[in-house]
Amino acid sequence: MRLQGKTALITGAARGIGLEFARAYLHEGARVALADIDGDGVRRCAAALGPGAIAIEMDVTRQTSIEAGFAEAIEKLGGLDILINNAALFTAAPIAEITRAEYDRTFAVNVAGSLFCLQAAARHMIARGQGGKIINMASQAGRRGEPLVAVYCATKAAVISLTQSAGLDLIRHGINVNAIAPGVVDGEHWDGVDAHFAHFEKREPGEKKRIVGASVPIGRMANASDLTGIAIFLASAEANYIVAQTYGVDGGNWMA
Ligand SMILES: NC(=O)c1ccc[n+]([C@@H]2O[C@H](COP(=O)([O-])OP(=O)(O)OC[C@H]3O[C@@H](n4cnc5c(N)ncnc54)[C@H](O)[C@@H]3O)[C@@H](O)[C@H]2O)c1
Repeated sequence: MRLQGKTALITGAARGIGLEFARAYLHEGARVALADIDGDGVRRCAAALGPGAIAIEMDVTRQTSIEAGFAEAIEKLGGLDILINNAALFTAAPIAEITRAEYDRTFAVNVAGSLFCLQAAARHMIARGQGGKIINMASQAGRRGEPLVAVYCATKAAVISLTQSAGLDLIRHGINVNAIAPGVVDGEHWDGVDAHFAHFEKREPGEKKRIVGASVPIGRMANASDLTGIAIFLASAEANYIVAQTYGVDGGNWMA
């Protein structure tokens, strides 16, 4: 058990990759706070995962919610060793149709949400003096632009940049900040992506998913479980010398 005795908070853990990370961390011996704006969802998930999992209803776009959520998690878990900044929104539109409201909404969750959750975790970890691990969820979308995905791509490029700056700042406190850049991961998130492409590229539902899955060099989309190995590794002592990096886990889609 590679995370025995450790405690973690995972944002966006009511479904998808965040929920799979929570399951994997529990399996490795950690206790986990599942944080999500979907309070009912996260309470259901934590109850199903059993002892060691707690639910935190938290909106990463609201500072008071972040502060209350971290305080509750830290109190119930007895401290925090690991944060996974996983909550995010996807949005798509041609440049000519992007709205300021959609831009603000997406940046508020993906960028400001990640930064201020990272800050809340870092403040606690610095004061506690035991170091820590912070993992940000970036994306292959943050490595390059895409014609219909300017806003989401820009948020994930910002996450990679924040990982670099925070990684360099916080390593003097023994806090390793790194990121994971997945490619295309099957699940409800990608069902939403598929619906956007069906609308803007006039495709049948499911068609875009089939095309992107077939074009991944490994031959298929990822499942959330394909990402748990790196998430466990980056949270473990084996990653103590890894600072400010973003790891592609994308079946060979993109070479950074
Ligand atoms: N699925 C993919 O193909 C893929 C690819 C690359 C990167 N990623 C990244 O991986 C991470 C997880 O992706 P996923 O597929 O599990 O996404 P998802 O959409 O299935 O889950 C996102 C979760 O975030 C929560 N959330 C949204 N707004 C929130 C807020 N304001 N406060 C708190 N929680 C909020 C949602 O309720 C949801 O439970 C995201 O950062 C995503 O950008 C996903």
